Amino acid sequence: MKADLVVRGISQLVTAEGPGPKHGAAMRQLKVVEQAALAVADGRIQWAGAEGEWGGEAAATIDVEQRAIVPGLVDPHTHAVWAGDRLEDFDARISGVPYERILASGGGIWSTIRATAAATQDELVALAKPRIDALLRSGATTIEVKSGYGFALEAEIGMLQTIRALAGLTRARVVPTLLIHVPPKEAAERAAYVSDVCQTLIPEVAGQKLAVAVDVFVEKEAWSAAEAERIFASAQQHGLAIKLHTEQFHRVGGLELGLRMGALSVDHLEACSPEQVAAIAGSSTIATILPGVSLHLGLPPAPGRGLIDAGAAVAVGTDLNPGSSPLFSPAMALALAVRLNGLTAQEALVGGTTNAACALGLPEAGRIEPGLPADFLVLQGSDWRELVYTLGSNPVREVWIRGEKVAA
Ligand code: NIG
Ligand code: FE
Repeated sequence: MKADLVVRGISQLVTAEGPGPKHGAAMRQLKVVEQAALAVADGRIQWAGAEGEWGGEAAATIDVEQRAIVPGLVDPHTHAVWAGDRLEDFDARISGVPYERILASGGGIWSTIRATAAATQDELVALAKPRIDALLRSGATTIEVKSGYGFALEAEIGMLQTIRALAGLTRARVVPTLLIHVPPKEAAERAAYVSDVCQTLIPEVAGQKLAVAVDVFVEKEAWSAAEAERIFASAQQHGLAIKLHTEQFHRVGGLELGLRMGALSVDHLEACSPEQVAAIAGSSTIATILPGVSLHLGLPPAPGRGLIDAGAAVAVGTDLNPGSSPLFSPAMALALAVRLNGLTAQEALVGGTTNAACALGLPEAGRIEPGLPADFLVLQGSDWRELVYTLGSNPVREVWIRGEKVAA
């Protein structure tokens, strides 16, 4: 078959191995082909290899003039839809007030819930679109976006509708997640809220296909593992995957629950013990680390090095949100994972591509392989490691999705 396009002059063509039988549990290897070319047909990779071995025909050819190409990045964890800002929190934290204390006193996430409730869906789309554009421009071709600043059930549905509207406005693939973020302040109202989530919200979200997964923030100042278990049971009954914000500050059973219930990913993990690291490594759940949070909140970083050494599959996300990680660049998240979590450049790229794709239940994404979608990045330089070396300027020159250049 004739290719629609051949891209030649690729100094290094970099991709990772696909998921093995144990769905993501082992660390994948990177493959680097020097002096490479790739061919695209119908928005998919038709062929990729050493340039001298390409013998086919193509309708068009471009030369990237000795630049490296890597797979489109997958950002497996964002809260890109919000209104208002958290600059007061930022000031308070800089002068020593902890994030959890701000949350417990009705600020933090609660202040974003109030601001988000006061915005219309059109306003939320207008606020979120440039954030999605920023993620895309710095390399994300697949972006997970969570609800969670709605709180009221109708507001959570509204956030998911906003995310659906955003998905229609960007070329990036948007993966929506329902986040059950913080519980009612009155202890007596928690059980009724969980019942409403299980009996009304989740069936509605699943019925309208507004999300593919349900996430719960399991933490001392948020939900207990027992409450999350009820929510996850409902999610699974309705065919939705599950994932958790867990072990961010304390160990309250979220991680063990997630592994027991087959979560796609357990995210944060800053407070993870060595025993828990071993437990994740023995499971097929992806460990998603969020180095922007460690940087912004000054928390000890998640044990990325230890997780990989133990055999866990580690993904890296931006956690873009106004409170704990105002980080708009997935490339920078990888750069931080190297500096803060002890990943090698190779492990960071795997964490931002194939492992992140597995954390979203999309094992096709994040690789350059015949038959897979032609989502790739042309980097500024000839050595792909600049993607994780560069701080503060964008190492991504062009973003291609389904075989089309969407940003340059
Ligand atoms: O991933 N930890 C809980 N949730 C978000 C933060 C949300 C916020 O602070 O607004 C997180 O860190
Ligand atoms: Fe988060």
